[in-house]
Amino acid sequence: MIITPLSEALGAEVRGIDLRRFGDDDLEEIKAAFLKFQMLCFRDQELSPREQLEFSAGFGEIESRPDRPFTFPGIPEVSILSNRVHKGQPVGVINAGDFWHSDLSFGVKPCRATFLYALEVAKDGGDTEWSNMYAALDRLPLSLRSRIEGLHGIHVFDRRRNPRAEVDRQFKKNAENVYGVSIADAVHPIVRTHPETGRKALYISPRFVVGIEGLPDDEGQKLLDELFEFQIKPEFRYRHKWRGGDLVMWDNPCLIHIGRGKIKPPGIRHMHRTMVLGEKPY
Ligand code: OGA
Ligand code: MN
Repeated sequence: MIITPLSEALGAEVRGIDLRRFGDDDLEEIKAAFLKFQMLCFRDQELSPREQLEFSAGFGEIESRPDRPFTFPGIPEVSILSNRVHKGQPVGVINAGDFWHSDLSFGVKPCRATFLYALEVAKDGGDTEWSNMYAALDRLPLSLRSRIEGLHGIHVFDRRRNPRAEVDRQFKKNAENVYGVSIADAVHPIVRTHPETGRKALYISPRFVVGIEGLPDDEGQKLLDELFEFQIKPEFRYRHKWRGGDLVMWDNPCLIHIGRGKIKPPGIRHMHRTMVLGEKPY
């Protein structure tokens, strides 16, 4: 394997491995690189949904939600992200991840790693951007750092309860079906310890965190605004321009990310996503 950093902030490109055939030694090497770079991009992969699942399963318990819209036929663990329209109907989620977030942070046991595989990419648009929450916490001014010690964020799935996130255009008409599903809110420490590296990271995002437990709302919102602004400073970030065949995996306990969208027609961006669960944040 040849592993080359993609930016100062996070991420590395991996070449010289076919993820359809990986051995235990490969997995060990990948896991070490994953902890070091937080995001890995394997170029030139040719993966069926089953092969992608098999690779993902090397990193934890596969996640699936039976009522999630747009999963691969017969394989509910694989989600389809796509702007393709077939016979007037979208075939996938069009604007996935359009606000900064960490995947499934609204869960009691949120997502550990996400695997996003690009089958087709558009010439313009469709970038994804990540921000490094180890770095954000490390560089947080002491005045702010001391204010968040011991505090917990309230993570909410339903966009209608988050003034910072609009309801997705695609789901406006059936918002109740998409966002009204019974997912309980979760409460997680704002300063999270990464389960494997033991490093501390800032664990909040404007998409999912709507308040701070135990703080009066005006005080909580003010503090959140300051943290949300700080956590996306340009020096913490890497923006990925996808190529067809990229399999990108990222470490949700220590990164937030955003889909930049803005795909220019007739460009088509078509991806398969898998996720593995982690543990309850501490
Ligand atoms: C996701 C996500 C962003 C993108 O799949 O979890 O946030 O650019 N995707 O597709
Ligand atoms: Mn996401």
